[in-house]
Amino acid sequence: MSDPIVLHVTVNGRAVTRAVDPALRLIDFLREELRLTGTKESCGEGECGSCTVLLNGKPVTSCLILAVETEGQEITTIEGLAEDGLGAAVQEAFIRDHAVQCGYCIPGMVLMGAVLRRDHPDAGREELRTLLAGNLCRCTGYEKILDAILDREEDR
Ligand code: FES
Ligand code: FES
Repeated sequence: MSDPIVLHVTVNGRAVTRAVDPALRLIDFLREELRLTGTKESCGEGECGSCTVLLNGKPVTSCLILAVETEGQEITTIEGLAEDGLGAAVQEAFIRDHAVQCGYCIPGMVLMGAVLRRDHPDAGREELRTLLAGNLCRCTGYEKILDAILDREEDR
């Protein structure tokens, strides 16, 4: 193990300073060091999107990034998104539309749903299907997830 490096980041709006192994992945930093276990690991190879978090507001796969690469940056996990108005609305839509089965992919899906609502507010179902292609679900067949992302109660 190499000498630890002192990392300074903002996680869910809170300043965090921690000495970390330079080889520690971001997902392990979040789950094991900070106990933010909402972020899930599935493939560990950047293929499934279940480990998605926001880095400076942009979605990234936290299994492919080293914690030390995030020095000085802002990280939002599913726990932080829950406190955000847009994130809470997406979570409520996932529940309302029965878009959750085993739940393993859902933190990444909800984060992506919030990003897609924010960045592609006029996207239709087929465009959203393409934009969500980096997030895999083994259970739902995606239709309920797309229903939830499109379901803006505030628009009713
Ligand atoms: S666990 Fe990171 S992309 Fe699959
Ligand atoms: S709900 Fe099971 S993997 Fe998506």
